[in-house]
Amino acid sequence: MGTPVGDLLDALAPVGRDSGTGGYRRFAWTGADAELGEWFAGECAARGLDVVGDRAGNLWAWWGDPDSAPGLVLGSHLDSVPDGGAYDGPLGVVSAIAALDLLREKGFAPRRPLGVAVFRDEEGARFGVACAGSRLLTGTLAAGTALGLRDADGVTMGEAMRSSGHDPGLVGRDEEALRRVGTYLELHVEQGRGLADLGAAVGVGSGIWPHGRWRLDLRGRADHAGTTRLSDRDDPMLVLAEAIQVARGAAAAHGALATIGKVRVLPGAVNAIPSSVTAWLDARGAEPGAVRAVVAAVSGAAGCAAVEESWTPPVAFDADLAARLAGVVGPGGPAPVLATGAGHDAGVLAAAGVPAGMLFVRNPTGVSHSPAEHAEPADCEAGAVALARAVEELA
Ligand code: GLV
Ligand code: MN
Ligand code: MN
Repeated sequence: MGTPVGDLLDALAPVGRDSGTGGYRRFAWTGADAELGEWFAGECAARGLDVVGDRAGNLWAWWGDPDSAPGLVLGSHLDSVPDGGAYDGPLGVVSAIAALDLLREKGFAPRRPLGVAVFRDEEGARFGVACAGSRLLTGTLAAGTALGLRDADGVTMGEAMRSSGHDPGLVGRDEEALRRVGTYLELHVEQGRGLADLGAAVGVGSGIWPHGRWRLDLRGRADHAGTTRLSDRDDPMLVLAEAIQVARGAAAAHGALATIGKVRVLPGAVNAIPSSVTAWLDARGAEPGAVRAVVAAVSGAAGCAAVEESWTPPVAFDADLAARLAGVVGPGGPAPVLATGAGHDAGVLAAAGVPAGMLFVRNPTGVSHSPAEHAEPADCEAGAVALARAVEELA
């Protein structure tokens, strides 16, 4: 019955895949991104649904007139981190399509418009700000700031949009698109082992930890690796090494998480002491104070102010909605409700006042943001069935 989630994922498997690592490089406003959007439009067209873009370039397909009443929107994103897995994002989009097929086969007629959304640039892999599409939609990221963000090659987001055929002049809070979203429900592969430990295929999100990204600009002096005495060196890499150790220690001390996973070294020569190192810190925790304490410790160790590139306060999903979802999506009783340290567009919409919820699908190892990310086919099917049950409850 329905369209197997695995078949839909298989159709996406070659897009943006790096043959060396096996991971995905699906970055915003690139050819791979456009190809994914075309795939989405094709699947929607095959179901008689048109796709419309909003001012930020997010994609929306509607079953029913979206202006007749605030709709229930399912969705997620299709972009990836560098060498990401196949499920983070796409699972939510393909499950929405699969749920729609299940409901139509059953003859279900939604009482309000039902939408499927693909949010643009959720990972922020190219321009540095996560959930850029939903933040632009809601106006929590200013158009001027976003359009001026540069990728590693110096291309601005505005230029990248223009070369992909999206007019950057359109970008700004989109009242019309927002008005249509009565409730947003995002299914996502779990990015931890919460459900695996509980022995549950599907769970419901309660909230998202506060988290953010900070930049450390470390300056030194370039010099010759073979002739400069150790005592004469001004090597910013040593400062970074210390900052990384401090990040780890402070995270452990405050019950938080801290990661330095991206570094740019200039001039980038094996035989030259670096003139500068730029490093990015990702810090998250259950409490904003714990995250701030980690950032302060790292900043102290780095001897420079950590420049905040993004900050997401704690998100609590609508508790009544979460309880309702937990009551209907579990196959044999209430589904577990759990928080996550991963950011999502659902969190951005919730913070903007849209009732939002999340469903998580078990990830047997918990590994994510890696080619090794996985969810069993049976659990993916259970996720689509759960999403269909949620639609029957809410629409
Ligand atoms: C999004 O995947 C994040 O970084 O939390
Ligand atoms: Mn992700
Ligand atoms: Mn994601």
